[in-house]
This record gives sequence, structure tokens and C-alpha cells, in this order.
Amino acid sequence: MTTMKILVTGGLGFIGSNFCRTIITEHPDHEVINVDKIGIGANPANLKDLKNEDRYTFIKGDICNPQLINKTVKEVDAIVNIAAETHVDRSIADPNPFIQSNTIGTFTLLEAIRKHNDNARFIQVSTDEIYGEITRGSFKEGDPPIPSNPYSASKAAADLFTIAYYKTYQLNATITRCTNNYGPYQLPEKLIPKTIIRALRNMPIPIYGTGENIRDWIYVEDHAEAINQVLTEGKPGEIYNISSGNELPNIQIAKIILTLLNKPQNLIAFVEDRPGHDTRYSLDSKKIAKELGWKPRYTFEEALKNTVNWYTNNEWWWTSLATGETLHPTPWKLRNTQ
Ligand SMILES: NC(=O)c1ccc[n+]([C@@H]2O[C@H](COP(=O)([O-])OP(=O)(O)OC[C@H]3O[C@@H](n4cnc5c(N)ncnc54)[C@H](O)[C@@H]3O)[C@@H](O)[C@H]2O)c1
Repeated sequence: MTTMKILVTGGLGFIGSNFCRTIITEHPDHEVINVDKIGIGANPANLKDLKNEDRYTFIKGDICNPQLINKTVKEVDAIVNIAAETHVDRSIADPNPFIQSNTIGTFTLLEAIRKHNDNARFIQVSTDEIYGEITRGSFKEGDPPIPSNPYSASKAAADLFTIAYYKTYQLNATITRCTNNYGPYQLPEKLIPKTIIRALRNMPIPIYGTGENIRDWIYVEDHAEAINQVLTEGKPGEIYNISSGNELPNIQIAKIILTLLNKPQNLIAFVEDRPGHDTRYSLDSKKIAKELGWKPRYTFEEALKNTVNWYTNNEWWWTSLATGETLHPTPWKLRNTQ
């Protein structure tokens, strides 16, 4: 494979840091430039292990800054856009930063590529949430985006710009849409780390509504590997769904984690549902399997166990992040179960 210099945006976040590590370890000749504004999901400790790596460069900056982005895009062969505001609850409280980073940020990158390096490869890392909820069956790549909350709307808008830039300007752009990720380095406010950390502290575990909302879970290293494969083998103008077929209701996730940690199930506390809370997400990812031969390396059981062990053994990483506010950025109301 030819050597590549890759601009990764949002590389200090959960998926971005796992992706940077995958590129540096699996491709001994590739170089990574990570542009991250050190926003909410970022943690410089996520890539402490790459600090002395010659092929890794960090630039603190915002993808909405055209001067920085124009200059950086000129220097690279590929751009993988992972930067985003990602917490749905925060988008409900204040959508504005989501439109900025997720939509305007992607637009800024597309414009930089169009004007300054139109041969560059562009990967837009998107989400299953843009399709909205589905009660039966699974979404395919050709299904229309019908997002339910400001986060998914801002991501859907970015996808539409990416498709338009492929069609209008023939940019070498491809979209990936992945299901819910879990694994090391995920912020404590997300369901799986929050459940593990609160269980370790014997604190009540808040579950929205009745806990029946279904998400399709994928281990972050499997997602990173899929992006890597789409980057090198995916076709321009295409969308690839990424999932590993582990559909589980939120309540079930909480119960499995409590069992793995040997904690009582009565730590679960049902709280008032989130507005616009989609009941189920599900993706059909046969296309990436058939066309690129990608499949997940990990089973759900082994990867969830790895994750629980990682949080148990790496309290240094999360202890300063797991403050009361980080663990519940919106105040919960206990649900009236009468
Ligand atoms: N977490 C999931 O389950 C999941 C699933 C599917 C898709 N995705 C997508 O993957 C991407 C990463 O998600 P994550 O969970 O790692 O998020 P995260 O919140 O952990 O990380 C996001 C990173 O982007 C950076 N960032 C945000 N706005 C920026 C800006 N304007 N300029 C520069 N950097 C900026 C943050 O500082 C942070 O480091 C997002 O685009 C998200 O939509 C996430």
C-alpha cells in the first residue's frame, strides 16, 4: 500500500484517538496530523502513547477555521473527519455548537479540499442516527436521512454536503455510518462508561424511560479498522454502513455490566425519558462486508469484558472526568413507575 499523510480531525476524542492509534500501529509508513480543538470529548491523555512518535503531529485548532484548514489540507493525501460535537443531550440543550462543528466544520473541510487539494481523499465519519429510528428491519445506505434530534440533524446535513461535493465537484469523498461505539477512552457521560463507573462507585445507574430503547453496539477498534479499510478501498461517492449486529436494549446493557462487576441489579434507576428518544437503531452492513470484506474482529461478550476491565484498571484516566456534572449533564427526574 502507498504511504499516506492523513489529516485526522477530532483525534483526541474517543473514536479519533482509537483511529489514530490504528493508523500508526498498522501502517508503519503512514503519517497522521491530528487537528482537534480540545473540546468536550477531547482528552490529550488518550494519545499519550504517541507523544514521541515521529509520524504523529498534533495541532490544536478548530475545523471551522478556514486559514488553518486550508493550509493543513494542502499538506496531506487524505482527510478523515471525525471531529464533532457528539452528545445528544447537549444538542437538545443547545444545538448551536453542533451546527458549527458538525455542519459548518465539514463544509469548511470540503471547501478547503475543493479549492486547495481536490485530489485528496475525504472520509466523512457519520452515524446511524441520521436515519432516525426504525421499529423493524435495518437501514440500508440508500435510505433517506430522517433525523430526530439536533445532533443527528447536524450530522445528516454534513453527509448531504459531502454527497453534493462528490456530485458537483467530483471530490474523492466517501461516507461511513456506524452504530453506537463502546470501548476504552469513551467519556464517562456515555451509557456504557457511565454504567461501569457508577457501578464501581455503587451509585444508582440512570436508565431513560423503560430502558427498552435498542442500540446496535460495536467495539471502537472494529469501527477504527472499518474506517481504515474504507479510506483505502472504499469507492468515491459511496456510503458504507458499519455495524456488528449486537442489538440490545439499554436496560440489558446495564444488567450485563452489573453482572460482570458482581454488583446488585437494584442499582438501576429509571429516569424520565429524553425528548425525541429514538426507540431503535439498526443498520444493514452487508455492503461493506461484501464489497470490502470487512467484518468485526471482536464478539460483544469479549469486547464488553475488555471494556469493563479497562475502566476498572484505568481509573487514572477517568477519575478527573467523572465529576457529578460530567456524569449527568442534564438533571434527571426519577420516572413515576406507578
Ligand atoms: N460514539 C459513537 O458511538 C459514534 C457512533 C457513530 C458515529 N460517531 C461519530 O464519530 C465521531 C467521533 O465521535 P466520538 O464519540 O469519538 O466523539 P468525542 O466527543 O469523543 O470526540 C470528538 C472530538 O472532536 C473534537 N472536536 C469537536 N468539535 C471540533 C472542532 N470544531 N474542531 C476540532 N475538533 C473538534 C473534540 O475536541 C473531540 O476530541 C463523531 O463524528 C460522531 O458523530 C460516533
